[in-house]
Amino acid sequence: MKEAIEQILAELDALKCSSEKEVEEARIHFLGKKGSVTRLFEEFRTVAPEMKREFGQKLNLLKKQATERIESLKESVGTTAGAAASGDDLTMPADPMELGSRHPVSIVRQEIVDIFRKVGYDVAEGPEVEDDWHVFEALNFPPDHPARDMQDTFFVSAGHPNPLLLRTHTSSVQVRMMETLPLPIRVICPGRVFRNEAISARAHCIFHQVEGLYIDKGVTFADLKQAILMFAREMFGADTQIRMRPSYFPFTEPSSEVDVSCNICKGKGCNICKGTGWLEIMGCGMVDPNVLRASGIDPTVYSGFAFGMGVERIAMLKWQVNDLRHYFENDMRFLGEFATAPEV
Ligand code: PHE
Repeated sequence: MKEAIEQILAELDALKCSSEKEVEEARIHFLGKKGSVTRLFEEFRTVAPEMKREFGQKLNLLKKQATERIESLKESVGTTAGAAASGDDLTMPADPMELGSRHPVSIVRQEIVDIFRKVGYDVAEGPEVEDDWHVFEALNFPPDHPARDMQDTFFVSAGHPNPLLLRTHTSSVQVRMMETLPLPIRVICPGRVFRNEAISARAHCIFHQVEGLYIDKGVTFADLKQAILMFAREMFGADTQIRMRPSYFPFTEPSSEVDVSCNICKGKGCNICKGTGWLEIMGCGMVDPNVLRASGIDPTVYSGFAFGMGVERIAMLKWQVNDLRHYFENDMRFLGEFATAPEV
C-alpha cells in the first residue's frame, strides 16, 4: 500500500491538463468511484489493525492532495481558456504605472510659504477677478498710471468707475487683509496673476507671486531688510548676500529692488547673472501712508513693509531654468525632472 500511495503522489505531481475535459478525466482517474485513490480506501479495510493508524493518516493526506491538485488545475485551465476566448494575452507585461509629481511652481511656492510661516506669517488668498479699487486705487496708483492701461491689464468690464479686471499682482489680497484683519498684520499672499504681456523667455501673461505684508507699531526699514535676508538665506543658502537698490512702486515709499548674490558663481560673475554676480528676486518697500489710510489704518500710529516676488523667477534661479515658458507648457520631459524633488 505504501508503494501505491507514493506512485499516486508522483502521478499527481507530473499531472498536466490543458483543458477542462482533461481535468475532469483526471478527477475520475484519481477520485472517481473506481479511481485509484478511492480504490486504496477500499483496500484500507484489509490493512492489519496495528497499521491502520499510520496508513489512515497517509490516505487522508493523499486524498486531500489529490483534491487540491485537481482544483488548482481546474482553475488554471479555466483562466487560460477564458483568456484565449477573449483574445487577450495575459502573459503580456502590464503598462508601467507612471507616478505623478508636483509641478515645480507648486514646489517653490510651498517652499516660500513655509519659510515665512515658520516666522509667524499667516497665509491669505483672494479672488483672481478683482476690482480696480483693490488692485490699483487703494494701492495709491494715480488714475493715469500706465499699469491701468489696456496694454498691461486684462479688463473684464471696462468703462465702470470700479471695473472688474484680472489682478496684476496679489497686493490686492494685502489690501483685503488691511481692510479686514485686526492689527498687527503679518501675512503672505500666494497666487496667480495676469498681465497683458507678450510671451517670451522672460515674461508670460500668467505667472505666480508671493507677496508679504507686515504692519505694526514701529516697523522700520531695518525689519524689512532682516526679513528679506532671512528669506534669501533660507531659500538660496546660508552664505547668500542681499543688496537693495532704490526703486519706485506707487504703494511703497521708500521702495527697493532686492538682489541676491548669484548662487551659481557665488558672486564671481557667470552667464546666469550676466557677469554681475547678482540676481534680482523681488520688489519691496515701506507701505505708503496713503495706502494705510485707504484701508482705514492710521499711519501716524502704524507703519509696515511689503514685498512681492515672482514664483517662476525664484524657481528659474533655483533650478537654472533659462526659459519661463517651460513652466506653462506641461512638457512631461520637463515636469519629469522634478519627480524626485522632495515632497513638500
Ligand atoms: N506688487 C509688486 C509687483 O507686482 C511687487 C511689490 C510688492 C513691490 C510689495 C513692493 C512691495 O511687481
